[in-house]
Amino acid sequence: MQKRRTLSETWKNIFSLLPRRQRLRFLLILLILGVSAVLSQLTPLAVGYMTDRVLGESDVTFLSVAPVLLVILAVNVVNEVIKVARRLIVEDTATQAEKNARQKAAVSLLMAPLSYFRSHMTGNIHGRLNRSLDGTVRLIKLMFMDFAPAVTTALAAIVTIFLQLPVPVACLVILVIPVGTFIVFRQIATQKGIRVELMESKAGMDGTVVELLNGIETIRTLDSAAAEGDRILERSEYLRQKEMRHHKAMAFYDCLKFVNEAVFSVLVIGLSVLLASQKVISVGTVLTAYLCFTQLTGPLRELHRILDEFSECMVLAGDYFQILEIPADFSYQDSEQSSGGSAAGLSCRSSEQPSGGLSAGFPCRSSELPSGSSAAGLSCRSSELPSGDLSADSAIRLEGVNFAYPEKPDQRILKNISLFIPSGCFLGVAGPSGCGKSSLIKVIDKLEQAGGRITLGGTDLSALSRSALADCIALVPQTPFLIADTVYRNICYGMKREVPLEEVKEAAQKANIAADIEKLPGSWQFELSEGGRNLSGGQWQRIALARIFLRKPKILILDEATSALDNTSERLIQAEIEKMKEESGTTVISIAHRLSTLRNCDEILVMDKGQIVQRGTFDELEASPGIFRDMALGILR
Ligand SMILES: Nc1ncnc2c1ncn2[C@@H]1O[C@H](COP(=O)(O)OP(=O)(O)OP(=O)(O)O)[C@@H](O)[C@H]1O
Ligand SMILES: [Mg+2]
Repeated sequence: MQKRRTLSETWKNIFSLLPRRQRLRFLLILLILGVSAVLSQLTPLAVGYMTDRVLGESDVTFLSVAPVLLVILAVNVVNEVIKVARRLIVEDTATQAEKNARQKAAVSLLMAPLSYFRSHMTGNIHGRLNRSLDGTVRLIKLMFMDFAPAVTTALAAIVTIFLQLPVPVACLVILVIPVGTFIVFRQIATQKGIRVELMESKAGMDGTVVELLNGIETIRTLDSAAAEGDRILERSEYLRQKEMRHHKAMAFYDCLKFVNEAVFSVLVIGLSVLLASQKVISVGTVLTAYLCFTQLTGPLRELHRILDEFSECMVLAGDYFQILEIPADFSYQDSEQSSGGSAAGLSCRSSEQPSGGLSAGFPCRSSELPSGSSAAGLSCRSSELPSGDLSADSAIRLEGVNFAYPEKPDQRILKNISLFIPSGCFLGVAGPSGCGKSSLIKVIDKLEQAGGRITLGGTDLSALSRSALADCIALVPQTPFLIADTVYRNICYGMKREVPLEEVKEAAQKANIAADIEKLPGSWQFELSEGGRNLSGGQWQRIALARIFLRKPKILILDEATSALDNTSERLIQAEIEKMKEESGTTVISIAHRLSTLRNCDEILVMDKGQIVQRGTFDELEASPGIFRDMALGILR
């Protein structure tokens, strides 16, 4: 539902899109408009004057009226030049506003809570953004290219009318305004709802089209193109019918407006001819009255069109500002207040850390777990939570963590999880599909907000800004994100510095993708299609993995990151990850369905229905009855 916004609120918002210097230009535009409005009143006055001279004097020659004609010409030329200047200033202001508006909307969307994207289709957001942006910019242009000139010209015409015409004629001429305006306001009031409905239906259609385009291969395989076409046709027909109702209403009101003008023009001509026949006014004044009437109805007709378009643009601008008002995700909000100095203390760039040995001495097991099991020899295990100062390392601690997705607050996905993962620990996470593995890492990476307490390196997660988190955590998700750009840029994605090609090649080598890239046309400059569709699934994953070798994060989270790889590639990459872990003390959390991926983990957590149900090394878990063994035996997936 759109929030109701007044005209002044909308304008205040539009002004906020412009830099101060640009806002001052509005004053210049208003000045130009005033001058232009005054100039446009000179023509009817000059015509009335000439007519009276022609009728009143017997020896009028062309030469004697030539100066008046020249004045008319000069006034019109100057007026046009002024209009060109106004247009350029308005266009410059509008394009500036558009530039700023687009950037602000993009940032607002990119910082929106993830739940926003789950409740709005991508195409819907995109269509809405474009249409609302267009409407907002159109509103600026309408205001300064159409509305304000029409109003100033109409005001100047009203002044001229009262100065030049007898009061009864002036009043009759002016009366066309309130009647016409009443019709326009009725038109706007009756059409506003349908405009919002049309806008929302169109956004819905955009959402469907983009959704279908994303599933093009499935649509082809299922041969459902024709069926989808029919579905779109059905929705388009519904939209068309709504639009036709709107157009019929618009045509009716337009007709009323023209009838109003026609009636008043007849009345004005009739009254002024009558007064002229009674010698109350001159014939020249009859002409002036008619020209003044047209000076008024011209802008009035424009005003009708403008107000109508205005109301449409107001709906769109309202929608645009609604996008700007999407509250930023919690992860951008709370770190500012709570961080103090502690967040800064978490130096996550692994290259700055002393290498090796970081995990030594830090136990890895939470206090709820049975102690004394075969922990000996494992650097990562113990029966107690440590209490040491962790502010400079990458240990992860969860205490009583509960989580439900905002869309389903009653369905707890993570249930009272307490866990300690020391620096440099390689932790595996296994469990049946839907048990909450990805949700667990989302709350650790602050992508979702959980109850309970989570600390990274001793710092409360709520005190860590997004940028601090980006510096220390790398997450390779189930479906890697690739951009339509070169392979080189894809590997460097997210790096805040220029990365030499040699460094990128080295990272790609570690991800076992360098040879594949070098075979591509253009090699490192090979352009990926949207989502990397011109590469294989395994190649996407390896490009995403190359990024982590470039970043050398302090905490690495892999969510099925090697699921599409062949065994050899997976083994090579695993070895490189372990090397990075040894060299940089990286803490690794790896989720995998293919249990062999977790064989070398220091410890494995087994989850079920949002809880940790088993913990141990691969061999321990394989040997004991439970979910892990069932999964290993293929009884459970
Ligand atoms: N946005 C959401 N709203 C509500 N429930 C969700 C949402 N996203 C996921 N879920 C539910 O949360 C549960 C845990 O999902 P999650 O993705 O964490 O499972 P997973 O263990 O990673 O599964 P998989 O192994 O299949 O990737 C599932 O039951 C899922 O249906
Ligand atoms: Mg998952």
